[in-house]
Amino acid sequence: MGLEHLLADIVGQAHVLTDPGLTASYETDWTGRFGGRARAVVRPADAAQVAAVLRACAQAGVPLVPQGGNTGLVGGGVPRGGEIVLSTVRIAQLAEVDAALGVVAVGAGATLAALQAAAARVGEDATLDFAARDSCTVGGVVACDAGGARALRHGTARAHVAGLEAVLADGTVLSRMSGLTKDNAGYDLPALLIGSEGTLAVITRVLWRVSRRLPARVTALIPLASVAEAGRVLEALRAHAPSLEACEFFVRDGLEIVLAHQRRRSPVGDAAVYLLAECAAAADPTGELAEALDAAGVRDAVVADDTIGREGLWALREGHTEAINAIGIPHKLDVGVPLARLGDFLERLPQVVGAAAVTGEARVIPFGHLGDGNVHVNVLGPGPQDDRVDDAVLELVVGLGGTISAEHGVGVAKAAWLERARGADELAAMRAVKGALDPAGQLNPGVVLPL
Ligand code: FAD
Ligand code: MLT
Ligand code: ZN
Repeated sequence: MGLEHLLADIVGQAHVLTDPGLTASYETDWTGRFGGRARAVVRPADAAQVAAVLRACAQAGVPLVPQGGNTGLVGGGVPRGGEIVLSTVRIAQLAEVDAALGVVAVGAGATLAALQAAAARVGEDATLDFAARDSCTVGGVVACDAGGARALRHGTARAHVAGLEAVLADGTVLSRMSGLTKDNAGYDLPALLIGSEGTLAVITRVLWRVSRRLPARVTALIPLASVAEAGRVLEALRAHAPSLEACEFFVRDGLEIVLAHQRRRSPVGDAAVYLLAECAAAADPTGELAEALDAAGVRDAVVADDTIGREGLWALREGHTEAINAIGIPHKLDVGVPLARLGDFLERLPQVVGAAAVTGEARVIPFGHLGDGNVHVNVLGPGPQDDRVDDAVLELVVGLGGTISAEHGVGVAKAAWLERARGADELAAMRAVKGALDPAGQLNPGVVLPL
């Protein structure tokens, strides 16, 4: 029997897609930069079906690409050509929140927004958030170890995982869903799978840690003359506002792109750099925030403590991804640099990009999570296949002691850079792990580890 028939026996004919009209949305990534044709898209309903699909693909020698909401930005969740795409869209069950343990069991295919809503219904908070919330899945978030704006206070996805269920390439189902706070018996396999980008296992369920919701929030948008000034404001926020939850930044060009896309007027004065800070606490944190801004000598800020006002300010920051993509396919470089080198990095960036973009204009729009030293360098201009700009930016980052991937992952976009970033010894250790868990290289070949 052919592979497609075997897969249809496992998941049902309706969940094996081969018609190009039906597979198209699974074949190109969110940015439009990466993708290829899939042999088929298969949509299992639970871990047992995932295991059977993996065994069938292994037997047929056909590689497989796990996919959640397909909002990844490094090309790791889309086929390169000829793979089976395993979509987790049907594995979306959400259990009741266990209030005593502060955890909720969630299917890998549930969206982040569904998880957030389930937590909010019982006064809890999933504490991880970013603009793709309505489409990205909990499995994808864990597979990328995604971060977002609130990682500054609550950590990346890793800090939220209290347990995992996952299926290895040979169909073995691993389950660590007890939720025990202390459990150090043996190697921490869930920790190994977090951030493995679909190369070591298919995650099918996650035990997600929640926290009591903090009801009082205040957000400030602060226009500043330079990144150095933004650094000083961050320092003051850290010193005076223990309720600090997020500290983001964007620049004049980015704001203009967003305002044009959203057809809005700027609520704030013109500046080179904008800092968006949010504090959250059990009682109103406005005083703390004001004290911090005062200490930093900030005279001009737009402050909002109501939902509509706060969302309006956040839309300016979160709107960057969509607004930039509406202009063209960007080169997206999600990098991290030590905070002390951030000013240096942003100052040298335009010159480095300009020199690398030999074929024409390059428009550089940096924005991101200032508090984490995490900059999203977006470059418009160079064609999707032209890696010279990417190479130049990553070289600069490595030279400054930074990381080539802060939160989006390595995917296919940066696989060729992993050895330069981590060194030959670490790459060899990673290959040994991959070889032990997926000796035939069935899962997501070409992602993270270069072929
Ligand atoms: P996909 O795109 O489907 O897959 C991503 C990777 O995970 C692939 O390698 C895939 O193979 C693997 N994968 C997916 N599901 C599984 C599974 N169940 N088991 C094993 N592997 C799996 N990221 C941040 O960190 N911070 C942000 O602030 C942020 N903001 C974003 C804003 C927008 C508008 C967009 C479009 C993206 C943003 N991202 C951000 C990118 C981020 O990586 C993804 O949104 C999210 O983590 C991916 O989830 P997904 O379900 O869409 O995964
Ligand atoms: C963000 O912080 O907005 C995201 O990581 C998405 C992006 O980099 O475009
Ligand atoms: Zn980000």
